[in-house]
Amino acid sequence: MKHLVVYSSPGGNTKKLAEELFRQLPDEKDIKPVEGAPDPAGYDVICVGFWFKGGQPDAAGQKYLKKCSGKKVFLFATHGAATESDLVQLGMNKATELAGGKNVIGAFSCQGEVPANVLENAANKDPQPPWLKDAPAAKGHPNGNDFMALSEALIKAGLTTKASPVSGQIIEESPVMLG
Ligand SMILES: Cc1cc2nc3c(=O)[nH]c(=O)nc-3n(C[C@H](O)[C@H](O)[C@H](O)COP(=O)(O)O)c2cc1C
Repeated sequence: MKHLVVYSSPGGNTKKLAEELFRQLPDEKDIKPVEGAPDPAGYDVICVGFWFKGGQPDAAGQKYLKKCSGKKVFLFATHGAATESDLVQLGMNKATELAGGKNVIGAFSCQGEVPANVLENAANKDPQPPWLKDAPAAKGHPNGNDFMALSEALIKAGLTTKASPVSGQIIEESPVMLG
């Protein structure tokens, strides 16, 4: 199985998720930013990462999702809105549709920290965007808990078989006492 991870991430949150996803995947894998990403045709599974803008996948993410129709696709995303919100559900539905629907084998999304200047701009808008009220809780995300949840989503999608420790952490087994 050849895996490709493609991500759109001007601010770096989705890139963090992409790198962790890449680390957890089994061998035969490539990772590329969406700018200049290869054609999906040469791969069996494409993991496409995007960020939310205007309640939808960002424009570069949308463009690449459309190229993946007919391929096995795993979606991942970051957003300011709360993960369990209708806003996120709608955006993920849109991404599924763009990627071709039935060929989407799984999805994962979590909040991604929104920079202070973006929060300030959004707060000055009238009306304020609906995701703004959730955005303070996005601080520090994606984090280790998000990576664990990502691990579960990858198992559910059949892309990995066991939970793998979060990046940077070494989980040691207790020594076996003999005799
Ligand atoms: C211009 C702009 C528009 C945004 N619009 C939304 C939105 O509609 N819904 C949402 O949940 N988050 C929105 N966000 C928050 C980002 O989706 C979130 O911070 C994300 O993690 C950014 O990803 P990145 O760091 O990979 O670029 C917006 C952020 C920016 C800068």
